[in-house]
Amino acid sequence: VPEHSLERDCTTLSRHVLQQLQSFSPEAQDLSAIMNRIALAGKLVARRLSRAGLMADVLGFTGETNVQGESVKKMDVYANDVFISVFKQSGLVCRLASEEMDKPYYIPENCPIGRYTLLYDPIDGSSNVDINLNVGSIFAIRQQKEDDLDGEGNDLLKDGHEQLAAGYIVYGPSTMLVYSIGHGVHSFLLDPSLGEFILAQENIQIPDHGPVYSTNEGNFWQWDDAIRDYTRYVHRHEGYTARYSGALVGDIHRILMQGGVFLYPGTVKKPEGKLRLLYESAPLAFLVEQAGGKASNGLKPILDVVPDKLHARSPLVIGSKEDVSLVESFIQDHQ
Ligand code: AHG
Ligand code: MN
Ligand code: MN
Ligand code: MN
Repeated sequence: VPEHSLERDCTTLSRHVLQQLQSFSPEAQDLSAIMNRIALAGKLVARRLSRAGLMADVLGFTGETNVQGESVKKMDVYANDVFISVFKQSGLVCRLASEEMDKPYYIPENCPIGRYTLLYDPIDGSSNVDINLNVGSIFAIRQQKEDDLDGEGNDLLKDGHEQLAAGYIVYGPSTMLVYSIGHGVHSFLLDPSLGEFILAQENIQIPDHGPVYSTNEGNFWQWDDAIRDYTRYVHRHEGYTARYSGALVGDIHRILMQGGVFLYPGTVKKPEGKLRLLYESAPLAFLVEQAGGKASNGLKPILDVVPDKLHARSPLVIGSKEDVSLVESFIQDHQ
């Protein structure tokens, strides 16, 4: 078979999902269709980002504050709405929960048949939007098993093992989608001329140890002794290289490819840290574990953590197995 045969170059996302499952099972069909809609949302966001500086009303703040207490950007709102609109027409997802919405958004016409919930961070790394740097989107799919009687999403307060699929889209020089449905981690590149995500790498494995050390060290003054001691350890040993972009998706993508560790620890004032369990930490933990890595809140696996509310936060230590374990050992020594 020639190197450049169509067969080799054109494995699309929806076909790839079907290949990993029994193609004709209802679950396979559903997940394939859901991934296809996520890909469409990714294309719409990528298109808007690629022209953002050329169009009016794309960059900057809306003037609103979201449920996280953060100033909302126009792109946060746009991307949040894009995911809603692509799933409105799909019939598959009955409910979406996002970093940007106080409560889950219901699509009554899809309920109760489409008993899947999409959890997502529409734009991860919003502070990078206005300066034309990489941002991302993070997603996870869960099956809705119980009724959500008051519409507050209390049935979503379960651990990360409930996730059926998770992944992210990174909007960088190219747009890349990385996903797992529990059968390894696979990446796809958006070919803008085809408008399709094309398979780039299958069964990505994160190295057991790597050089990258990724954290916002500007927070050193408010970290506890365990994290300070770990930081001093890094400063005093050969073989580390610091990388931090302000967008979790990009930083973790680098670690997935090259190995290392990303940390967003709690602080003395905010022991739960910043990152949101349901939309950020749990989906990325699912993905990194599927690639042979590890994700921890410092004391136990992120996937075992049960959120106490929809927008619960958690400290996050994620990446190569050995590097995450080393951070955990510093934290456990200080218990
Ligand atoms: P978001 O833009 O979705 O609110 O997430 C921002 C997150 C994450 O992407 C990044 O790693 C972290 O916040 C950066 O926070 P600091 O500016 O505190 O380092
Ligand atoms: Mn935010
Ligand atoms: Mn985020
Ligand atoms: Mn966000």
